[in-house]
Amino acid sequence: MEIMIIDDLTSKNGHLMIGGIDSVDLAKKYGTPLYVFDIDQIRSQIKEFKSAFEKANLKYQISYASKAFAVKAIYQVMKQENVHIDVVSGGELYTALQAGFPSDKISFHGNNKSYDELVMAVQNHVGVIMLDNFHEIELLSNILKNEKQQIKVMLRLTPGISAHTHRYDQTGQTDSKFGFDVESGQADKAMKLVLEDSNMNLLGIHAHIGSQIFGTQGFVMLAQKMVEIAKRFQEKFNYWPEVINLGGGFGISYNENDDPITANEFISQIATELKQQCDQVPEIWIEPGRSIVGPAGYTLYTIGSRKDIPNLASYVSVDGGMGDNIRPALYQAKYEAVVANKMDRKNIETAHIAGKYCESGDILIDQQQLPETQPGDILAVLDTGAYGYSMAMNYNRNPRPAVVFVEKGQSKLVVKRETYQDLTSLDLDY
Ligand code: LLP
Repeated sequence: MEIMIIDDLTSKNGHLMIGGIDSVDLAKKYGTPLYVFDIDQIRSQIKEFKSAFEKANLKYQISYASKAFAVKAIYQVMKQENVHIDVVSGGELYTALQAGFPSDKISFHGNNKSYDELVMAVQNHVGVIMLDNFHEIELLSNILKNEKQQIKVMLRLTPGISAHTHRYDQTGQTDSKFGFDVESGQADKAMKLVLEDSNMNLLGIHAHIGSQIFGTQGFVMLAQKMVEIAKRFQEKFNYWPEVINLGGGFGISYNENDDPITANEFISQIATELKQQCDQVPEIWIEPGRSIVGPAGYTLYTIGSRKDIPNLASYVSVDGGMGDNIRPALYQAKYEAVVANKMDRKNIETAHIAGKYCESGDILIDQQQLPETQPGDILAVLDTGAYGYSMAMNYNRNPRPAVVFVEKGQSKLVVKRETYQDLTSLDLDY
């Protein structure tokens, strides 16, 4: 029995192992395409964030940004890990509540929460509403009056900091649909409204500069800026935030060109900055999504057809594609894969990994090194845990894959594979 560990991947007898289980057996047992999550890896990442804060001696809260992956079972893992979560829709809120996640540890985000969503949040006593715009302040104010209830809120600010990341993943710059603009005075106006509303308890201020960010600079600048804003609020409104929420966005390594920062690196630098800037450092909240679930996720596919264009290119097709991972098509995201049943074979070619969707852009990996492959081999695309299943769709009426959690050598189905019946379950005759 040969066990090998290469680039953090463990293989046994030439098969990729995930959380102590043979991935080829998982593919056989549950079918493909299949999302597999190594839950131990998720728990370790959370522990890493926690210990970084403890080392830095900051009061903190970790709030998992569940848009990255939002199914009942992951909310249950977050409950076990005793962290907070963010939701951004009635649907995520409903799923979390169905999972038994404590509502007082939920923050509700979104730039256009509807009246009904806000009522749902208030009636379920969510921990914090992240106020994003004036319309929402008015809606919430009325709802709280009607329901005779009070609630904690935070103000989402756009601090005027651009993250160096994909255009679609930038949110902190002034020209953004999210939050109250600081420069033009919108933030001050919002502050005044909230402080005057006796049903809203202002817990603090929030900003999120973007996603898949490498380097600490943006976060340190953000920490600096948030303290500057807090000081202004103190002068102007005699208000000092109990919490500063610095959002999420910590990048992960999808391929050899990505060089992410460790939790320790950015948290220690943020802490140094904060301690220099203020005597009374507020509690710091962060909202990691991708960094918690991304690296723990694998997608297993079965290899099917192949097309070789002489002297030009080879296409190796799998049984999934853009429906279960839209990120390559949408953001030109670059993933890496291995052939799960041939971990001990040498790579002999570079090919395009094509999905099965009727769309030329449905290429999961542009240039993937492969050993000799045959139909029936299992391809494992790595680091697909974030924004994979949560962005999955049914284009071409392909059913969405199942999701399996593995931990301590055991596997558990946590989301069933969609069936053809499921696909037509909402359709009505005409
Ligand atoms: N907090 C807020 C307010 C956010 O808007 C987001 C992500 C996060 C936290 C979590 O960011 P993370 O730690 O996961 O980077 N679909 C895109 C990512 C969109 C992120 C939207 N907001 C992708 O697949 O790259």
